[in-house]
Amino acid sequence: MPSSPNAPWSLARRAERLEPSVIREILKITEQPGILSLAGGLPAPESFPVEAMREACQRVLTDTPREALQYAASEGYGPLRDWVAAQLGTQGMAVQASQVLITTGSQQGLDLVGKLLIDAGSRVAVEAPTYLGALQAFAPYEPEFVAVDCDEQGPLPQGLAAAAGARFLYLLPNFQNPSGRSMGAARRIEVAQAAARAGLALVEDNPYGELWFDAPPPPPISATAGEGSIYLGSFSKVLAPGLRLGYVVAPPALYPKLLQAKQAADLHTPGFNQRVAHEVIRNGFLDTHLPMVRARYKAQRDAMRAALDKHLPAGCRFNVPAGGMFFWVELPAQLDAVALLPKAVAAGMAYVPGAPFYCHAPRLNTLRLRFVTLAPAQIEQGVAALGRVLRDALEARP
Ligand SMILES: Cc1ncc(COP(=O)(O)O)c(C=O)c1O
Repeated sequence: MPSSPNAPWSLARRAERLEPSVIREILKITEQPGILSLAGGLPAPESFPVEAMREACQRVLTDTPREALQYAASEGYGPLRDWVAAQLGTQGMAVQASQVLITTGSQQGLDLVGKLLIDAGSRVAVEAPTYLGALQAFAPYEPEFVAVDCDEQGPLPQGLAAAAGARFLYLLPNFQNPSGRSMGAARRIEVAQAAARAGLALVEDNPYGELWFDAPPPPPISATAGEGSIYLGSFSKVLAPGLRLGYVVAPPALYPKLLQAKQAADLHTPGFNQRVAHEVIRNGFLDTHLPMVRARYKAQRDAMRAALDKHLPAGCRFNVPAGGMFFWVELPAQLDAVALLPKAVAAGMAYVPGAPFYCHAPRLNTLRLRFVTLAPAQIEQGVAALGRVLRDALEARP
């Protein structure tokens, strides 16, 4: 159908499935000065290793300027692929560098996975709730989403039979976006086994795994699922999202097709960025950098926990995340977090309503709070404002 009576354009069916990101729209309003924003998925800018990046840029431009600025291999920068494979090895995953594809953010990895595996009408199983960006990446390929039953650890192994026949199950085992929940070691093994029994392939997305507060998470599910799993990782939360660097680890049988999809999408991930990131991390930089990020985020998590305990009205429930960036709050059933957002913004704070994170049956009485970008005193102020908005709403609608 033409986009207007006089215009010659006809939108493809998949373009009609592209919807404005509710989160981005909210970000536009809420990341303004004066609003205490607990919305959006931004890491703390204070955690970006600016000095190390500056020095690494200088070294790359001095030592290998022409290689860094030239077109490069679609697979990614060899030493960075080696680093990823070795790093995953320390987490219990046996990965060859030849299985690693460096992507332009792990968001691109999700798009490539969708392109590779989803036909119109294919079933794709997801958690409820799940990462909105994945729903958006997969949607243009016209899947039929199936929500698997979840508890406070994520998917229930017995719920996977309902997803049999799906092209894959998309999983977020560590400090999930949006719910903050994590899967324990036993659950991971049970899910991998149940998926194998159901003939279900897994797509595991792990951008937050390094942001643990007390103990590292158990090994990735992909360590158990072997050939039946694709694994996605990201440098956005451990270095900086502006680099747009992520990676996909694919079974050897899938890799060539994935690589062709990558070539068709953007030829390769910026080689300069890959070399700079590798220059920063190659000598153990993250061993000193990540403990600082973890300590910072943990203090902010504790501040938010205390503020939620103090300011939320009775009838609200929340998890306490063991890592990552988010709290997930369930409001009393009669409250609608989408409808209340303008009131929260008017009160000087912002959150992300939980509803868009569900593929079906959105739970309107849920919301996500990011705790990593504000100082503890501001976190308390923001949560106190949220508490007042919720109390007013409960008094207006007893
Ligand atoms: C669960 C999850 N996956 C993937 C991404 C995309 O990350 P990036 O493209 O920055 O690597 C995000 C970003 O917030 C995320 O939360």
